Amino acid sequence: MGQETIYFGRFVSAPTPDELLIRTGAVLVDSKNGKGVITKADWTIDGPNGAVSKFGVEAPVVMPKDNGFFFPGFIDTHIHASQYPNVGIFGKSTLLDWLTTYTFPLESSFGNVNSPMYKDSIEPPDPLARAKKVYNRLINRTLAHGTTTASYYATIHVEATNLLAEIAFKKGQRAYIGRVCMDRPETCPDYYRDESTEQTMANTKASIDYCRSLDPSGELLAHIITPRFAPSCLPETLTQLGALAKEEDLRVQTHISENLNEVKLVKELFPEQKSYADVYDHHGLLTPKTILAHAVHLSKEEMRLVKERKVKVSHCPASNSALGSGFCPVRELLDEGIEVGLGTDVSGGYSTSILDAVRNACMVSRHVGFLNEGDSRYNLGVAEALWLGTMGGAKVVGMEGRLGGFAEGMLWDVQEINLGDVDVRGQGGDTDVDIFGWENWEERVAKWVWNGDERNVRRVWIGGKLVHERR
Ligand code: GUN
Ligand code: FE
Repeated sequence: MGQETIYFGRFVSAPTPDELLIRTGAVLVDSKNGKGVITKADWTIDGPNGAVSKFGVEAPVVMPKDNGFFFPGFIDTHIHASQYPNVGIFGKSTLLDWLTTYTFPLESSFGNVNSPMYKDSIEPPDPLARAKKVYNRLINRTLAHGTTTASYYATIHVEATNLLAEIAFKKGQRAYIGRVCMDRPETCPDYYRDESTEQTMANTKASIDYCRSLDPSGELLAHIITPRFAPSCLPETLTQLGALAKEEDLRVQTHISENLNEVKLVKELFPEQKSYADVYDHHGLLTPKTILAHAVHLSKEEMRLVKERKVKVSHCPASNSALGSGFCPVRELLDEGIEVGLGTDVSGGYSTSILDAVRNACMVSRHVGFLNEGDSRYNLGVAEALWLGTMGGAKVVGMEGRLGGFAEGMLWDVQEINLGDVDVRGQGGDTDVDIFGWENWEERVAKWVWNGDERNVRRVWIGGKLVHERR
């Protein structure tokens, strides 16, 4: 196999919040060290042969179709892999009853034969077979949607969590894998919790070790320390997880201020701390490598603390709407200088697609604008929402300058988007992105954002390696 590849054609990216960069040219990707890095980029090249002679290498040239373009891979900064079978299953619930009704029973079935999910099952329970089936299908699905990096929550079970790590690694997705930590008896069911702080720490360390055994560099795969959320964990556990994150220099992920009843619960469980953010800060969990999901109801003071600690936020608009959690004021977070990325939050969110999160981020921002006297300043535009799903995500997972664009030195984590043929036999295009032919490229990208889906994702590469091809 060749070590170098040239990609020639149209490249679209969102390097800043208000700029959609659309250009033709070529990049040279070097996979010699197994990483797939862009070593050269040239935006004056106007043909595949020109690319070969300009770069001076006899490398194969890969091109999108006529109505296609290269786009940076999406980054899902918050997704619960184990909850995938429940997408769309949430009834009228809101966060706290959703967790006990739908989520804990499903998650427990990945490691506990006495899970309530197996109560009426005809077949004998097989937790690992279930985990394998769900995780394989989920990674295939997210890759098909163009998700090249994801920050995953698994379950509390070490074996099943390690299986998720192994499957993501084998399929070549850039993944941060979290074994879920939850051990506070008042808030966690007997059938689904770690027994003690000691057990939580031992199991977390076992999962860290396993991830390191697969990828010692941590570039493609790494463990992420995952206290489910403040109410789920004993205070001593939160303290020890904070210390472990520091000691091992690892990423941390958790939830914050998603739902008003949850905020109230945190006040009751942690009366000494002055806010939800303060609870995490008190336990050493607010670090530059921490990803906080939701942040819907933060006070200004909490936003300032989050900013001061350089903590990142994962905005999960589809989930916030589905579970009736509220409207995250993304503009205020950005104005405060907080780094924000997008998350699907499957299965609080009903979709595994970050393109869908891009759309939902646009929609929710308009509701926020409406609630602020119809001020369109709050509205996110197409470029800005795409920026959140790529560049924003790169910052959130600590990969700024490596992911999210086409600059020299960046990794080739890229999706090839195909908008389909224009007007097939007079019937319109063959995907929901119906291109008439007169639209300019900015308009075509907008049409992709609002009506695109995985049918428009033709190929996906991660670290220069082809990981998905649409048949
Ligand atoms: N808060 C605690 N656990 C969860 C979860 O699994 N999903 C969401 N959306 N919020 C949570
Ligand atoms: Fe979540």
